[in-house]
Amino acid sequence: MDDGSEPEAHRLPLGALGMSASVIARLTSARIVPVVEIADADYGVALARTLAGAGLPMMEVTLRTPAALDAIRAIASEVPDFLVGAGTLLTTRQLEDAVAAGAHFGVSPGFSAALSGAAVAAELPFVPGATTATEILAAAESGHSHLKFFPAEQSGGAAAIASLTAPFAALGIRFMPTGGIRPSNLDAYLALPSVFAIGGTWIAPRDAIAAGEFEVIGAAARAAVATAAAAPPAA
Ligand code: 3PG
Repeated sequence: MDDGSEPEAHRLPLGALGMSASVIARLTSARIVPVVEIADADYGVALARTLAGAGLPMMEVTLRTPAALDAIRAIASEVPDFLVGAGTLLTTRQLEDAVAAGAHFGVSPGFSAALSGAAVAAELPFVPGATTATEILAAAESGHSHLKFFPAEQSGGAAAIASLTAPFAALGIRFMPTGGIRPSNLDAYLALPSVFAIGGTWIAPRDAIAAGEFEVIGAAARAAVATAAAAPPAA
């Protein structure tokens, strides 16, 4: 009997446990997310303004340096309309610190029920990592439809994502690959409709940030924006 309700498989990832619609929409429309490691928080705001000026008003600041939280705090308060996420979230404490610093979304290289629960409690749009069918299923059961695929190149690259997309189509699973992605292999990922965004450090490498090479970073961002604009859209 058709009572008008959606099948369970379609409802599963779309609840309050997943990403907020506005964050998904912004990441999906930019398609490229600079992943950055900031050694000196003073450079965070200048970096954000450089990326915004290049048409890429978003970044994931990895919590791999002591300066990361201060950088997120400064960007969130000083750069209007810039989407700043906290990456490399490994513990619930880090996730809570990221929320307190003003992060707009969180990213983890893997999936953990504890981190997922902490993101829900904090109402933080959250992208956990998954590279196997079992991990994807676990993340989907916790309500996540948008997943990081890391390390992308080492985990089979675009071909692996294409193979994993088909069996999970009913759950609406979408991927954000990162790890080993550069201008030379970007097109292969952009060609996949199930890839909602692509992350990487190639746009703003740690050394370039530390050296204040914002012109170089801006040029790399503009090139990535142009490449993404020429690609088929995400589903
Ligand atoms: C990440 O945390 O997403 C990765 O370290 C990015 O990998 P890359 O340096 O190869 O882009």
